[in-house]
Amino acid sequence: MTFQEDEVNQYQKTHKNSELLWKRSQKVLAGGVSHNLRQFDLPLVGGFPAFISKANGNILTDVDGHEYIDYWCGHFSQVIGHNDPRIRNVVIERLQNGWHPGMVIEEQTSFAERIIENSQSIEKIRFCTSGTEATMYATRLARSYTNRNLIAKAKLGWHGANDTLFYDVGFPFIGKDTPGIRNMDEAGIITYSINDNSFFDTIIKKKDELAAIIIEPVLGGGGGISVSEDFLKRLRELTEKFGIILIFDEIITGYRYHCGFFQDKIGIKADLTTMGKIISGGLPVGGIGGKEEIINLADPKTDNTTLIGGGTFSAYPLSMSAGLKTLDILEKSRTDYERINKLGEELVSRLNESFKGSNTDFIANGRGSMVFIHAYADYSSKQPITDIMTHKNKRREALFQLALLNRHITGYHGLGALNFCHKKTDVDKTIETIDSILSFFSN
Ligand SMILES: Cc1ncc(COP(=O)(O)O)c(C=O)c1O
Repeated sequence: MTFQEDEVNQYQKTHKNSELLWKRSQKVLAGGVSHNLRQFDLPLVGGFPAFISKANGNILTDVDGHEYIDYWCGHFSQVIGHNDPRIRNVVIERLQNGWHPGMVIEEQTSFAERIIENSQSIEKIRFCTSGTEATMYATRLARSYTNRNLIAKAKLGWHGANDTLFYDVGFPFIGKDTPGIRNMDEAGIITYSINDNSFFDTIIKKKDELAAIIIEPVLGGGGGISVSEDFLKRLRELTEKFGIILIFDEIITGYRYHCGFFQDKIGIKADLTTMGKIISGGLPVGGIGGKEEIINLADPKTDNTTLIGGGTFSAYPLSMSAGLKTLDILEKSRTDYERINKLGEELVSRLNESFKGSNTDFIANGRGSMVFIHAYADYSSKQPITDIMTHKNKRREALFQLALLNRHITGYHGLGALNFCHKKTDVDKTIETIDSILSFFSN
């Protein structure tokens, strides 16, 4: 039997309840999921996802009773750890008062005030329900404010699934867009490669057409790749010079590395910042913050309002309460942030040591507490890591993910991220586990 057959057999034998649920799900949900990623690519190698019944700290428990060290952390939203009692209690308290009056509530104001206090660039905010809406609204505001149409987004940048920005997002949309949206030209989108200075010439050439440039300071869906500080600074200079709106998509990086947005660590002030994930402790949220005169275009008291809010569940009360408590906690979490950023870096460097000695095509990368593992389609061609998402061996990665599940570790993009509950012993165990299976992936 091959390693893959062994792994699939073992997984099927030990995940009977998940298998039953998976079969039921496929009958009623397209692909059995409501977010493509939650297949974790496992069907590519004959597997299926484990159905999770409990999440605590950095441990997930599935419906067959297995416990996993979790590196997926709720799509990166759980930096404090799952099911933190302090957050759970404020949500329960809010529930007891009715959870969605559909009216203005005090918590949304306090939450906005707190985010603004923690930011150098944000003067005003609008909340919505998801990051997908936040980036869609941010680009709409930019077009409205500048009266220009063109938006530039990074190749492999992931800003959610809205029609505006779903271009060049990587696997499985390499070299093609999803059917159902306009082509890039008609949509007024151009894409650029991060850390590639030739984009600056494009900016200069298209300065009168560009409404906005949107960028994640660390590409999340794009492979955990950091955009260089120099590149970001030059973007800021040029956008400022030509009146182009610079949008930092901080839906992953916001509150990931410290209590605040990434841009503040490197002294850049974006015109607009999109936020989500961590800020509300794992409850649904999105937000657009930025310069008052831009955000004010959304004020409905003028005839010329730019619509950036129509969501039934925008500023959802449970999320606002959880968000406030989350910020309370994060404001006192400097040591935890430092610890997990260091632990993440240690994990990347120890993994790469193992990979180097292993004759595999794996590589680990990331930034601070974000830790990704990629399998190159062809390592010998030494494609640059910035383009890893287009040079991947997806089947190999899926098998790796399955092998980790069999050994009680779960994540995506190889691993994903650490939260405050991860300890050195978890990292040691993860490395030991990966070391124990590496020979099965050698070329
Ligand atoms: C950088 C970034 N922007 C936007 C989004 C979209 O957010 P949501 O999934 O909440 O719609 C994501 C989601 O993964 C993201 O990583």
